[in-house]
Amino acid sequence: MTEHTLAPEITAIPVRERARIALSTARRRTRALTECLPDAELTAQHSPLMSPLVWDMAHIANQEELWLVRRAGRRRALRPDLDPLYDAFRHRRADRPALPLLRPAEARRYLAGVRDQALDVLASAPDPGDGFLFGMVAQHEQQHDETMLATHQLRRGPAVLHAPAPPAPPTPAPALPHEVLVPGGPFTMGATADPWALDNERPAHTVDLPGFWLDAVPVTNAGYQEFMADGGYDDPRWWQPEGWLHRKRAEITAPAFWGRDGATWLRRRFGVTEPVPPDEPVLHVSWFEADAYARWAGRRLPTEAEWEKAARHDPATGRSSRYPWGDAAPDPAHANLGQRHLQPAPAGSFPAGAAPCGALQLLGDVWEWTASDFTGYPGFAAHPYREYSQVFFGNLHKVLRGGSFATDPVACRSTFRNWDFPVRREIFAGFRTCRSAESPAREQGRGQGRGRRGPR
Ligand code: AVJ
Ligand code: FE
Repeated sequence: MTEHTLAPEITAIPVRERARIALSTARRRTRALTECLPDAELTAQHSPLMSPLVWDMAHIANQEELWLVRRAGRRRALRPDLDPLYDAFRHRRADRPALPLLRPAEARRYLAGVRDQALDVLASAPDPGDGFLFGMVAQHEQQHDETMLATHQLRRGPAVLHAPAPPAPPTPAPALPHEVLVPGGPFTMGATADPWALDNERPAHTVDLPGFWLDAVPVTNAGYQEFMADGGYDDPRWWQPEGWLHRKRAEITAPAFWGRDGATWLRRRFGVTEPVPPDEPVLHVSWFEADAYARWAGRRLPTEAEWEKAARHDPATGRSSRYPWGDAAPDPAHANLGQRHLQPAPAGSFPAGAAPCGALQLLGDVWEWTASDFTGYPGFAAHPYREYSQVFFGNLHKVLRGGSFATDPVACRSTFRNWDFPVRREIFAGFRTCRSAESPAREQGRGQGRGRRGPR
């Protein structure tokens, strides 16, 4: 995919225009992900973990109809008969292929018909306000576009998606510290003023944290292979009991999509099999694997508050910014976002995207598992529907932060919260580790020098 449209600066562009750009950017991506496959591949189930792509297509349209045509536009329903089919809570992903789904051509017509009306609602609204519902629907479509890209990764057969490799990091590589200090003290977590922040990011509130040392970059494939070579998958000391059971039962011995060819590790990536690149952030590991690696290294996963503080708090001003680098909209020099590339960039890339603490690649490349369960902030209020966030609160899901190469900028900012089951490996997730500033570099782990050595 060769799309370079960027999320417009939130204040610089009028709401109507911003909403129109966000919706059409999402639609271009939906089309790119679905027009490259024949109908049989759109209706096939590539994995019981995922919906057929044709379900995502009509679900995207159905949500847009619900929120923009019916709710924002107060217009008559186009297809009320479809609501039960495309209600994500009515049918499990594995069961969706058996439903009487719209055929691909019908789903495309439905998408186009709803979009015509939604754009008309947007153009004719006397006052679009902050455009929240439009922003929410654009983010929803982009979230499904990331899910559809994960379906592409699970599909077998020759490659149909193509994108250039990310740019090489600057040479000579600037000396990168292994870990950076995030000093103790209060910071503002969450968003109240950000007009398109979703309900689970709200409200902004102050969180006081002790200082901690955070990996300057995500853990790389080379770093992860040290854990593997040291027998990390065979030593229950590093694993949560539940994770160890899962690792045994599912016979997990490497990140998903990895396979061995003699002494060389290969990975399958969107239909291409290639050697695992040592410098890239590790991808397709579960929370349990990330947590085990961290314990092996004598470190831990950051809490989501720690992650967010590193990703937006500037001790010089005391302010929390929208992105690690400030408030400017992401551009290609800041971060690997938006499916411009179909893989993470090497660790040490994007110095222009550095956070005040010095950490790189907090946004883009790979989602980062955090130690935290997904819960509501103090004062949380579901908006506009409980099923976006609230029904997932509890101890079943872990929070991921930062977005991946597959995440569009409209659905990525330092406050954005993603969540998934701790066993999930098929999403574009990696991690980085940290340690409390008060504790010594290694208490108990065996990761000889892990976190001491650089990313390369
Ligand atoms: C935020 C990625 C966990 O895909 O389940 C899509 C986003 N919510 N449709 C998901 C979402 C409703 C959600 N995640
Ligand atoms: Fe959805």
